[in-house]
Amino acid sequence: MWPCVCHLQPLLTLISFAFLTRGENCPATCLCPDPHTVDCSGRGLTRLPDDIPLDVRRLLLSDNWIPHIPEDFFLLYSDLVYLDLRNNSLSQIDPGTLSTSSRLVFLDLGSNNLTEIPQGAFGESQSLIKLRLDNNPHLSQVNEHAFQGLTSLRELELERNALSGLEVEALSELPSLRLVRLEGNPWVCNCNFANFFNWLIENSHKLPNGMECSLPPDGHQVSLSQLSQDSFRECQNSLTLTDLLIIIFSGISVSLVAILASFFLASTVHCFQLFKGSKGDDEDE
Ligand SMILES: *[C@@H]1O[C@H](CO)[C@@H](O)[C@H](O)[C@H]1NC(C)=O
Ligand SMILES: *[C@@H]1O[C@H](CO)[C@@H](O)[C@H](O)[C@H]1NC(C)=O
Repeated sequence: MWPCVCHLQPLLTLISFAFLTRGENCPATCLCPDPHTVDCSGRGLTRLPDDIPLDVRRLLLSDNWIPHIPEDFFLLYSDLVYLDLRNNSLSQIDPGTLSTSSRLVFLDLGSNNLTEIPQGAFGESQSLIKLRLDNNPHLSQVNEHAFQGLTSLRELELERNALSGLEVEALSELPSLRLVRLEGNPWVCNCNFANFFNWLIENSHKLPNGMECSLPPDGHQVSLSQLSQDSFRECQNSLTLTDLLIIIFSGISVSLVAILASFFLASTVHCFQLFKGSKGDDEDE
């Protein structure tokens, strides 16, 4: 019996040590309901806790006051699959921060204070399936390559931001997109919107909640479903710089020809009168 227990002792020590360190690894202010989840939501945090275990997969940080994601965050926590930073004070995403987040499947940055989504903001997050960027009241700029590399992204939430327009490439570069929420933005259906409108019509089944936009010049709100390609027909007729140059050049040419023609006509009339005058003199004689 004894030798057997003695053999087991190192193993027992190791197991209890693993359990103890797991307990110790949970940041003091947070809960760790299972070995891979750290729940620090609603703890009044103004920055990320230091002592998050490096093998964390689900990190819940919603309802805090965190203003910034450190650039090496995803280098440290490279196993992260699920990151909830909803309702914090993030004002920007530094390009490169998410470039190593290759396992991330779910990212919630909704209800923050983001103002723009720069080119390649999410790096090559090839596993990302759901991205929430809603309810950022100052978010007015989304770069046309903001979502590049998100080859698995199925759901994108951009509702209730400050977007008045969007480059169509931002969405058309997402091969797996199934659902996009865009409602509650101050969209303006002017000529810049025409390309995006065509994409929206072709992909209307991906917009469960539709959207509204304001029509110039008086800005009254219409639902997208009330508009058709015809609503933007004037935009195709609108003039480009080349068109304007051609018009100006033709105008000048026509004027020049007209002046030359008048001059020629006047000369002809004058000659004719001179000729008639001299003929009359001859007849008088
Ligand atoms: C956002 O977080 C703050 C701070 O924890 C909290 O008081 C507030 O209720 C949260 N808002 C929402 C909509 O959950
Ligand atoms: C959010 O961002 C805007 C524009 O950058 C700024 O004016 C405002 O003070 C910010 N609000 C908070 C709560 O940080």
